[in-house]
Amino acid sequence: MAEFDRFSVEGGARLTGRVRVSGSKNAALPILAATLMTDEPCVVEGVPDLHDVRTMVETLRSLGVEVEHTGTTVRTRVVNEDLCTAHYDLVSRMRAGFCVLGPLIAKRGRGKVSLPGGCKIGARPVELHRKGLVALGAEVPVRHGYVEGEADRLHGAEIFLGGAFGSSVLGTANVLTAATLADGVTVIEGAALEPEIEDLARFLVCMGARIQGIGTHRLEIHGVERLDGTTYRIIPDRIEAGTLMAAAAITRGDVELENICLDHLVAVVDYLRALGVSVEKTESGLGCRVTAPERLGPCDLNTHPYPGIPTDMQAQLMAVLCTVDGTSAVNEKVFPDRFIHVGEFNRMGARISKEGAVAIVDGGHRLSGAPVEAPDLRAAAALVLAGLVAEGVTEVSRIDHLDRGYAKFEEKLGALGARIQRVGA
Ligand code: EPZ
Repeated sequence: MAEFDRFSVEGGARLTGRVRVSGSKNAALPILAATLMTDEPCVVEGVPDLHDVRTMVETLRSLGVEVEHTGTTVRTRVVNEDLCTAHYDLVSRMRAGFCVLGPLIAKRGRGKVSLPGGCKIGARPVELHRKGLVALGAEVPVRHGYVEGEADRLHGAEIFLGGAFGSSVLGTANVLTAATLADGVTVIEGAALEPEIEDLARFLVCMGARIQGIGTHRLEIHGVERLDGTTYRIIPDRIEAGTLMAAAAITRGDVELENICLDHLVAVVDYLRALGVSVEKTESGLGCRVTAPERLGPCDLNTHPYPGIPTDMQAQLMAVLCTVDGTSAVNEKVFPDRFIHVGEFNRMGARISKEGAVAIVDGGHRLSGAPVEAPDLRAAAALVLAGLVAEGVTEVSRIDHLDRGYAKFEEKLGALGARIQRVGA
């Protein structure tokens, strides 16, 4: 079995100081996939330096794209359109790899993409992606674990992308991107509202796409003959920002965050305030200060599609609730099975019981450092947060999950005073 790094976290430090948030992972990945839509060079700036981005870069290279990746800038140029297969060993590492399917079909007329992998947070179907691409005129049969997409030229269509748990974020990304080169008008109803989709749409517009209704559930796309290269800067990562806010809250700290968009975090800020945490805009308007008093009050937590509290913040906020006197219910409305971290928190002395898609947190009992294993990306960050306030040392293993989505996490927390060390495999 492959060995992975772990973090050793010594509890008890109150976080204080200033930290800069990186660019958004979940905006960068579909935007990088969309660079397949043009023959011209693209420059994407503000890209976070993390494993998922490197996997997307490798995927693009395997599809005939010349990629220069230095620091937070990625430059792309398509040089070989004959390479149309995104292989299992790449796409199984992260779900966003599946976002190359729409661009391959729209631009090259064919694309063979492995069914995706990604975090183990419950069922992760792709039927909404396929439904949208079929409506645009593609054939997308699944054979031997691969979706084999094909179309002469996509045509505009009316498509409803709502599913049992809301719209699909990456499904919207795939269909929206493909529709920009379709013949005629496409209307996507029930499009995902997440800011990362808005960012993708703005990137496509910079390439020459014609999209109306950006930021709403109804996207109207007027297909164009070709898209151009462009230079684009990614939005700040709202989940990293929310995670750092939760780190300030759980340690009852005083932390200033730079490079954030508070408008993307309205529900998270509202929730933290309901617990008793203060979140104030800094004077520049580009940051905020998070301060937490010693005693916070309980509050039920419901995750929802945007603009609700993101499912990607559920585990980190649950960590905070473990330190709050009283009982809070956590209701997961996007991925009902996303609770594997509950058992790990309980190993640290938390008292959480689970009933269906609801976890009941009986908070305020002192956590104690323990060996725990990160089950997925966001839960990895949440276990680190719990370690920050646990008595003694918490060893969080499977940090490869965290490295997929947080840039320099231990350095950022360390600069705020956390006692955290990476232990190599
Ligand atoms: C994106 O995944 C994010 N990933 C996830 O973040 C995030 O948790 C999720 O959106 C929800 O916000 C990226 O952006 C790379 P969905 P995605 O399709 O698009 C159901 C992280 O930690 N569904 O919006 O794959 C699905 O089962 C990751 O950064 C269908 O029913 O999620 C779920 O219940 C983890 N049919 C709901 O929709 C489909 O065809 C939302 O999933 C597709 C999805």
